[in-house]
Amino acid sequence: MVVFYPGRVRIFDTTLRDGEQAPGIDLSVEQKLMVARRLADLRVDVIEAGFPVASRAEYEATKLINQELSDRVEVIALSRCAKKDIEDTLSTGISSIHLFLATSDIHLQYKLRMSREQAIERILESVSYAKENGLTVEFSPEDATRSDRAFLSEAITAALSAGADRINIPDTVGVMEPFGMYNLVVEIKRLVGNKILSVHCHNDFGMATANTVAAVSAGAEQVHVTVNGIGERAGNTSLEEVVMALKKLLKAEVGVVASRLYETSRFVAEVTGVPVPYFKPIVGDNAFGHEAGIHVHGVLQNPQTYEPMQPEEVGNFRRIALGKHSGSYGLKVMLNERGLTLSDEQLKKVLDEIKAEAERGCHVSVDQAVEIARRVCLSVKA
Ligand code: KIV
Ligand code: ZN
Repeated sequence: MVVFYPGRVRIFDTTLRDGEQAPGIDLSVEQKLMVARRLADLRVDVIEAGFPVASRAEYEATKLINQELSDRVEVIALSRCAKKDIEDTLSTGISSIHLFLATSDIHLQYKLRMSREQAIERILESVSYAKENGLTVEFSPEDATRSDRAFLSEAITAALSAGADRINIPDTVGVMEPFGMYNLVVEIKRLVGNKILSVHCHNDFGMATANTVAAVSAGAEQVHVTVNGIGERAGNTSLEEVVMALKKLLKAEVGVVASRLYETSRFVAEVTGVPVPYFKPIVGDNAFGHEAGIHVHGVLQNPQTYEPMQPEEVGNFRRIALGKHSGSYGLKVMLNERGLTLSDEQLKKVLDEIKAEAERGCHVSVDQAVEIARRVCLSVKA
């Protein structure tokens, strides 16, 4: 396997389209606008604003997001390969369109009730029509990763011959693993040549981030992501994870302002009502959390001992917790920062009390530790 060393990777954010498609997430036009503004501030390269034919509000939101932000960021809208859908999308004033048509046999047979020949015809007609109307076209062969490879190539070749500007490979039901994704991207990149190749991964097996990173290693220049990984079923590739993995692990250039990741994640969690998991990489509460004495000691000496990046880089915070695994060094530093200097004997007494509490299953907060320390200082001479 040859690792392709990426240049600049384009971040295509689909929080407001695929993310919002998730059951239980319905944003008002105003909320969509607020999220779009945050995405523009985050400096993603593309905002997929919505699916205009899905509802009046989706249409309105796409139109308004495009009006307000298209001079700062590319705004795109999803559309089926159908003339009426393309016309509706065009009437929002948008200049980029994301056309999709499924290419897997299961989708062609049970969903579209179309032959492969009809699918190729539809791709040719739709991409040509969108191009004749001056649109930038990104084409997605939906369910690409379960499509017959020869037919997938045929569909992509058809889209390119009709003028598609970018090709996106959706792993619609998240069935890829990184090695398979790498090989697929190498193969498709030969067809796509100098045009941008993108990937869109779902997280059904928890592989979305790994598959997306593998795709970039293989030569993909654009990745579809959502804030907090929200999206259909187990979600999409998480923007935060991919941005930091690309920057830190592949040393790729990414336009996103990493220090805004945490606040953007919390904002999206608030408007969608979907909380950020405690252990979520990059933006979770425990992403920079430490309790074990050895870890706390290490991190306080040099954060790199137990942190692969600094919390400030992504706008998150380091959280030092107290519990059964705490050590005296971390406790001492924590109490010193709150103006308390204890002797070794006092410190041991405080630590023993904290551990006893934790062993009973009770969480000890910093304020409680300070209270214990004050009491111990009064009862045990320094
Ligand atoms: O998952 C998918 O296949 C999609 C397409 C519309 C790109 O979201
Ligand atoms: Zn999707």
